[in-house]
Amino acid sequence: MRGFGVRSNNKERARGERNPLGKAYYLEYKPKRIFMEFFELKNISERYLDLVNPTTPEKILIAGRVAGMNKGNRVIDFGCGYGEVLILWARTFGISGLGIDIRSVACERAYRKIAKERLGDRIEIVCGDAAEYPFEPQGYNVASCIGATFIWKGGFREAVRTMQRAIPPNGRLVIGEAHWLRSIVPPDYVRHEPSIRTEYELLCTAREEGLELIYVLHSNHDDWDHSESENWRGLADWLDENPTHREREEVIRHLHDSQEEYLRYAREHLGWALYVLKPAG
Ligand SMILES: C[S@@+](CC[C@H](N)C(=O)[O-])C[C@H]1O[C@@H](n2cnc3c(N)ncnc32)[C@H](O)[C@@H]1O
Repeated sequence: MRGFGVRSNNKERARGERNPLGKAYYLEYKPKRIFMEFFELKNISERYLDLVNPTTPEKILIAGRVAGMNKGNRVIDFGCGYGEVLILWARTFGISGLGIDIRSVACERAYRKIAKERLGDRIEIVCGDAAEYPFEPQGYNVASCIGATFIWKGGFREAVRTMQRAIPPNGRLVIGEAHWLRSIVPPDYVRHEPSIRTEYELLCTAREEGLELIYVLHSNHDDWDHSESENWRGLADWLDENPTHREREEVIRHLHDSQEEYLRYAREHLGWALYVLKPAG
């Protein structure tokens, strides 16, 4: 799939330039072609979504409260999407935030929302590969990664290991992650989603990495339905608006594949939760 504007934006902005919109910076990085096709579809499908995960603003706020967020705290959010998580926490708890996302389309939408909310003095967006971001060690009260631990090659384990370096011993991690709901899952679906673990495996990994789990907020079917259906609605509306687009067939295929995957497998086998963790000690 080609040509939904992301690539040209990345080329223009891939050299550490300042975003003409203001306080959003573009790190130098090599766009990963394998992701770009997926990202182009996401840019189409996510138009109605602010939070790009099967969760709710209420659950994000509970996680922030449990993580002890207070006015003046610093939060780093890896894979920040449209900035909604940081916006919710900044509005409610008065935190300052740094969000990193690889998609220029997401970064620009995040920046526009932040400006509209008049939070530009407190939330900064960096566009680039979060796995390569040179964050300040122990520089943040909370490090979060909501539905994006795939940013690191080592997935959940590397995510918790890296994120832990961003916080002091009394800091907190907030992680949103998918998990298998049961230990027996159809093998073809497991092959399709090789990085997913059971919650018990996630718990064991977190403990092995020196973390204590202090809170969990599970997603329910309504959360999943909302998140999946809003993606479908975004794709369906794009198809209505682009009746002769040369990549129309690919968008239709993506819509159908995602509906089949959700209703055939994910609804029964896939869970999602927000976890609040702290360094054990
Ligand atoms: C499922 S979305 C979650 C967005 C946001 N955390 C939220 O909950 O609304 C995952 C995000 O990770 C971003 N992403 C993927 N790979 C990345 C990378 N290597 N570095 C930074 N962001 C990345 C995607 O662009 C996408 O916005």
